[in-house]
Amino acid sequence: MNMNICFRKEVDSTNDWAKQMAEEGAPEGTLALADSQVLGRGRRGRSWESPAGDNLYMSLILRPEIPPEKASGLTLVMGLSAAQGITDVLRVPVKIKWPNDLVIGEKKFCGILTEMSASRQGIRFVVIGIGINVNNSSFPGELQGKATSLKLERGTVIDKEVILDAVMTAFVKNYKIFLKTQDLSGLVEEYNRILVNRNRPVRVLNPANPFEGVAQGINTFGELLVERADGSVTAVYAGEVSIRGASSYV
Ligand code: BTN
Repeated sequence: MNMNICFRKEVDSTNDWAKQMAEEGAPEGTLALADSQVLGRGRRGRSWESPAGDNLYMSLILRPEIPPEKASGLTLVMGLSAAQGITDVLRVPVKIKWPNDLVIGEKKFCGILTEMSASRQGIRFVVIGIGINVNNSSFPGELQGKATSLKLERGTVIDKEVILDAVMTAFVKNYKIFLKTQDLSGLVEEYNRILVNRNRPVRVLNPANPFEGVAQGINTFGELLVERADGSVTAVYAGEVSIRGASSYV
């Protein structure tokens, strides 16, 4: 995959910008990168704090030839890649909170928002948006205690470009592995090794049927396997639910 970085100082959301470029025919590997976002978006309709200067806000266009129902695995591929790339260059213990939040200790510093356009013929494009808190020195009230940045964890200012490069290099490698089998079989072991929820009690926030259990790890579809008190195991699909630790965020 050839990476082509397009940069703007300020955008509404790099995901929206990338989707627009994809609609206009931008090829796989086009990366929309911005210094700040006015309307940075998170999952579940939340917003994503996107101040200028400090952090990475970027969205990658992909055009994978896979069935649309397999595309959600790509989000986990990006989460794993970001964790590996950042661990490689900073030597900090990055973990994954399923499906794709990155945490250090108990605090989140990276989120991923994937959007897809598909027709009856299949996937037209996938946009994977990733936000990394690189150099924030503090967080507004409601995020304190839940959010962190790489600078806060390392105690020094971090070069954003080094992080960008490490994350994308890891992604290109893992994307090839994913495409070979069109699932996570080649990556599941490494993903589960750094899964913060593994062997921990979790609460599955499924509106119709919430339940608690112990997370065992993901399967090759990226579903989280949760063992209930009666010993039965339920595979939880990321699109439907989110999870919390039984008593905290992770
Ligand atoms: C989440 O954890 O809720 C997902 C956050 C995703 C934020 C990134 S920042 C770059 C891209 N553009 C957006 O508007 N959102 C994603």
